[in-house]
Amino acid sequence: MEQRQFKVKIILIDIPTTIESIDWLFKTIKNTTVQNVVFKSNLQSIFSKSRDQIFILNLNSFSQEFLNELKEAIEKVELENLFISLSSDASKISSILSRLGIKRIYFYPEEEFVLRNDVSERVEQIKQEFESEIVKDNFQKKFEFNRLIGKSPKFIQCIEIAKRVASKSDATVLLLGETGTGKEMLAKAIHYNSERAEYPFIELNTSAISETLFESELFGYEKGAFTDAKNSKPGLLEIAEGGTAFLDEIGDLSLNLQVKLLRAIENKTFKRIGGVKDIKVDCRIIAATNQNLEKLIDEKKFRSDLYYRLKVISIHLPPLRERIEDIIPLAEHFIAVFNTKYGTKVEEISQSAKRILLQYTWPGNIRELSNVIERAVLLCDSKTISDKDIQVGLSSILSTMKKNLIEIKVEIDKAKIQNVTYDLVQEVLKLVDGNKSQAAKILGISRPSLLKILNHKN
Ligand SMILES: Nc1ncnc2c1ncn2[C@@H]1O[C@H](COP(=O)(O)OP(=O)(O)OP(=O)(O)O)[C@@H](O)[C@H]1O
Ligand SMILES: [Mg+2]
Repeated sequence: MEQRQFKVKIILIDIPTTIESIDWLFKTIKNTTVQNVVFKSNLQSIFSKSRDQIFILNLNSFSQEFLNELKEAIEKVELENLFISLSSDASKISSILSRLGIKRIYFYPEEEFVLRNDVSERVEQIKQEFESEIVKDNFQKKFEFNRLIGKSPKFIQCIEIAKRVASKSDATVLLLGETGTGKEMLAKAIHYNSERAEYPFIELNTSAISETLFESELFGYEKGAFTDAKNSKPGLLEIAEGGTAFLDEIGDLSLNLQVKLLRAIENKTFKRIGGVKDIKVDCRIIAATNQNLEKLIDEKKFRSDLYYRLKVISIHLPPLRERIEDIIPLAEHFIAVFNTKYGTKVEEISQSAKRILLQYTWPGNIRELSNVIERAVLLCDSKTISDKDIQVGLSSILSTMKKNLIEIKVEIDKAKIQNVTYDLVQEVLKLVDGNKSQAAKILGISRPSLLKILNHKN
């Protein structure tokens, strides 16, 4: 990956060359280059807004003309990056300069070390900004929508809704889907591609902690609210201010907390435990579950009012077995991921291994596929993943595959290859709910060839 080099250019303007010490002073600041220029009434062309250029302008004397020039030129420079040194003759203009917004004024040579330190500090500041931007850049890139692999119509539809949700709306989102279908990944993509991206993404898993702990995590508490509350503590809804609160496994939330959560969402305010003050919340709620909430409502385990409040926008991530055309692209994506992680050089998946991946039902969805490919990459001793590499990870899997076993019974007098082929196609079509493209993929033939087989029989 391309990494920009960090360097700040220190431009010394009109520093008398006889004062070598100035040059020397700045050349010792790390991560910088120093350049001497002479100012001949063209300050505007020297100044630049570039964040990685610092200007030190030395004034021995001044004139009205110069002040006019400076007033105009100052628009062209980042004030934080402008330092002015004055000889004692020019001391009279220091108040005029500060009126122009120039705060960094130093008397020379009395303050040369102060000047050097301040410049050095500014370089350090710029460096930190630069680094945090790289980290932020890389971090946000990780959650760009195009990082989500999948071209199947069902998946594309999910992404389209998610993009719209991210860009336009603050509405609550409900993410549904079996385990490992990418709910968390999509929640992050929505957050990091929304105007809330600069604010926190806070995650709270309902099923992982007890009810009381969940409540105090979500709403916070005041000092003395319960025996252990020695200090007050803000809730995650407060910490997520401006950002997104991701409530995972919402189906496991107790009925009591469902009421409190609904109230917080509807009123956009809540109280800390033991608190009397209403606290305003501005955060988007994204909830996720792999359970069937409607069934939970029938069983009186989930409140329908909260359900309707949460599902203002709901996105149902399809299980992998309903997006068979995404299996191989995802597998190839994971090969690249694990090649990077382990320094391996796996290039491809053999045809027979692909067939296994396509036939399997993937109850653990993308997470399971990722695990299988990770193991295969580690086991693989050539550049091609073989069915053997896949099967080791799949030994438990193969038993579930039996459910997908295709059985064709043929009477011996009708055992023409054509008939068998036709029957096989029919069986595979049953397996994929009649989706011809998917069936063709499993059979390793093109869609037109599949249609030909079907028509031929007729
Ligand atoms: N479209 C995708 N492209 C690439 N990787 C994906 C995609 N969807 C999911 N993954 C990866 O699959 C794994 C499981 O995804 P994630 O944790 O988002 O699933 P989940 O639906 O939240 O699962 P659970 O219900 O078990 O919490 C993660 O490693 C994630 O990075
Ligand atoms: Mg999850």
